Amino acid sequence: MYYGAAWYPEHWPAARWDEDIRLMRSAGMNVCRIAEFAWSTMEPTEGYYTFDWLECAIDKLHSNGIAVVLGTPTAAPPAWLTHHHPDTIATEQDGRLAQHGNRCHYNPGSITYQKYARRIVEQMVKRFGHDPRIIGWQIDNEYNRVDYSEDTGRRFQAYLKDVYGSLDALNSHWSTAYWSQSYSDWREIPIPIGPHNPGLMLAFRHFATRVWADFQRVQVDSIRAGALSSHWITHNFMGWFDGFDHYVVSKDLDLVSWDWYVGSGHHDYLSTGVVHDLTRGLKRQNFWLMETQPGCVNWSQNNNMLNKGEARCMAWHAVAHGADALLYWQWRSAYGGQEQLHGSLIGADGAPRPFYSEAAQIGSDIAALNSSLDLSKSTPVNDVAILHSYDSRWSINAQRHNKSFDPVAVLNQYARPFAAQNIGIDVVSAEAALETYKLVIAPAIAVLTETSEAEMAAFVERGGTLVLGVRTGQKDAYNALLPALQPGRPLLRKLAGAEVAEYYALDDSAPVSLNLAGTTSEGESKIWAELLRPLDDATKVVATYGEFNGWLDGGAAITVGPTNANGGKVIVVGALLDDDAQGELTEWLAQIASIEPVWPDHIEGVEFSRRRFKDSDEELLFIINHTRSAQDVNTAGSLDPATVNILTQQPVQGTLHLEAYDVAVLKINIGV
Ligand code: GAL
Repeated sequence: MYYGAAWYPEHWPAARWDEDIRLMRSAGMNVCRIAEFAWSTMEPTEGYYTFDWLECAIDKLHSNGIAVVLGTPTAAPPAWLTHHHPDTIATEQDGRLAQHGNRCHYNPGSITYQKYARRIVEQMVKRFGHDPRIIGWQIDNEYNRVDYSEDTGRRFQAYLKDVYGSLDALNSHWSTAYWSQSYSDWREIPIPIGPHNPGLMLAFRHFATRVWADFQRVQVDSIRAGALSSHWITHNFMGWFDGFDHYVVSKDLDLVSWDWYVGSGHHDYLSTGVVHDLTRGLKRQNFWLMETQPGCVNWSQNNNMLNKGEARCMAWHAVAHGADALLYWQWRSAYGGQEQLHGSLIGADGAPRPFYSEAAQIGSDIAALNSSLDLSKSTPVNDVAILHSYDSRWSINAQRHNKSFDPVAVLNQYARPFAAQNIGIDVVSAEAALETYKLVIAPAIAVLTETSEAEMAAFVERGGTLVLGVRTGQKDAYNALLPALQPGRPLLRKLAGAEVAEYYALDDSAPVSLNLAGTTSEGESKIWAELLRPLDDATKVVATYGEFNGWLDGGAAITVGPTNANGGKVIVVGALLDDDAQGELTEWLAQIASIEPVWPDHIEGVEFSRRRFKDSDEELLFIINHTRSAQDVNTAGSLDPATVNILTQQPVQGTLHLEAYDVAVLKINIGV
């Protein structure tokens, strides 16, 4: 496992570097990310490159056993570039040009910018591409910009021509007869600003995705052309950020990484695990946590410090969900610059800050782990998948219908109770292959393509349990309504044996009676409710609405479609249940799909997560006490008393005692 920080040697005299590296070593660090904002240091004037300083820093890191991830600096173009080539600067929605100096002020689609980006990357590759001291490259930093220039408008039109082939096709997919939107020339099609035609809005998101993929491709190609094959390429994404389709953009990468910041308040493992799961799902492989906060940030409403011990839990929580590396941002703040007050490991005085001691403890935990196993050979393996789709999020967010309807919150509504029940989940693309799962949930997958439909239907045929959540299956790939009621795809309608007769944005909560496992209970549907209509005699209604608005009263809220010969079935959930009822629903789903929790007992605030070693019966069990009080975990009957906590080398011996924010990592054999 790799452990380290983002370090900016260009901020400091070279005479300081040895001390920084010594402190990194003594915190147990073995990796460092450098150079991702250092363009003006590497190319102070156009065509004049100075890499000796970087070579020297890399050399010092390497000779101290610290591997290097080299960042390409394109998130922060130098002033000479933006000054001489204003066409590289991004245009905001209101037509103003972005200002130099706040980074990410470039237009990723600008051909001039791509030319300069290629040039600096090629120069870096020429100098460092054959350097075995480098293990990988990070391209740019947190892609996020959308450009609204006329040039981008023209490119968008060319993109549409490429994708749709004819204006007739485009007009038909977008229903442009509506409000006289019909286009007779590609040049008439605008970039949507604010609410617009749903087809146009979705297409512009696809275009923004293409822009980032192309921008990235320029750098990927330059690196692959000249770097050692052992050098991997990554980009650091931003969790739920939806500026582009991450499944598409991550295709060209070897490795996905992300930056996890809490900002104000404290971390809540029930809702953060799913963001790691989302990131792991981008390429369906382990990921790097390329940045995380050393105590506090500088950009939130209240930049409070994490509690002492909390960062250690966060570190192991990330690992438990598939992180193979963890890097703090940043090592030390520059004296100037916009992020002076951000958390760091080293203070303005050059000495360790209090947080450093916790970082060093994590470093010694990781050293203990590394000395006993190769973490990267293990990964979380789960029976439950929650589907995720950028198209659906964009579609719904543009037409929430109830302003509180947040598609990410709906996904979380399933993820949270599973986390509380110690059931691991994968979050995968709505288009992903589903062969390995027992239970698949499609929460608010409004845009449901034929590919998804075929995959879901095959999954049910094989005996899987498929849950169609609210708003799922309402639209086609062009964001047009499907010509049948939800689930609007024919195979799914048949398997579900039910349809959504009507959807209701709620001004108040609607009562729901559940009859899931033979017992009845009462709950509420909040924000949204769908009235289900059974279409098949074999369809069972397992929840109904109580008296509410007249329309929903007594109607079906949850249905179970006919069960096929392999036990496969589709459950349609029309209610957005309150937390307790949702907890019951997920427990019942786990039960009918024969899902075993990672750990049988629930202990409030204590996480149990697992990673399995490939082709082996061995697993790592992570037990993380996310609370501020000590917890005892009774392992009698569940674990061999001789099982050793890798972090302390102590056997668990019946009761595992965890101090506040304490962690245990156990290697267990599930074949025994
Ligand atoms: C990240 C960014 C870092 C740093 C950090 C501060 O979004 O990638 O460069 O600015 O935020 O929290």
